[in-house]
Amino acid sequence: MADTRAGLLDALLDANPVVPVVVVDDPDDAVPAGRALLAGGIRCAEVTFRTPAADRVIAAMSSVEGLTVGAGTVLDADQARLAIDCGARFLVSPGFSDPVADVSEASGVPFLPGGATPTDVIRILERGLSTVKFFPAEAMGGLPVLTAFAGPFPQVSFVPTGGIGPGSAAEWLAAPFVRSVGGSWMISRADVRNREWARITRLSADAVRLARASRRVEGAAGAQPAGEER
Ligand code: 3PG
Repeated sequence: MADTRAGLLDALLDANPVVPVVVVDDPDDAVPAGRALLAGGIRCAEVTFRTPAADRVIAAMSSVEGLTVGAGTVLDADQARLAIDCGARFLVSPGFSDPVADVSEASGVPFLPGGATPTDVIRILERGLSTVKFFPAEAMGGLPVLTAFAGPFPQVSFVPTGGIGPGSAAEWLAAPFVRSVGGSWMISRADVRNREWARITRLSADAVRLARASRRVEGAAGAQPAGEER
């Protein structure tokens, strides 16, 4: 079971080297926000449980064809179950939670747990998972710390998130142990509130271009801004 879920998650992340972390306050904005990301070539998004509307946002954004929507900031089993009921295709947490891992295991919906210390990584490995959200990436010491993790954990791939932006994403993506990067720089909460859809599309397309310039975008299905030649 863990193998299937891990395989699904890793394939999704390999195809989507930049995963936006999305905070939407008004469910009416979910579909246009999803479409704005998609128009920029982003095909996968993490919608965080940081607003009371998160479940409705996940449900609405999941209706955007071509966009794979997961739930972020999943802190407990109830949120995990709610997210799955609303259509979340994967679960992300800022840390590791056994109850969330249990829900993932029972449902078959992949789980990307957060880890920021070697002890976290060992706990995650003990649950049969080997892809870890390194969070908060920059505040925890950035690339030098993750490079140090790669020594004892060669079997682990990481999704650094937190404090990453257009100036640093390419450097993270160039590291062989980084599977993809997460961040909100292409879709800020303020831009969603202000319905800056064109700006979100432009920043998304920039992010995809940046990822394409890194070594891992070869064959990144879907990482294609609308209307562009590959
Ligand atoms: C997260 O929840 O993963 C982070 O808040 C995203 O970090 P960023 O806003 O610094 O990109």
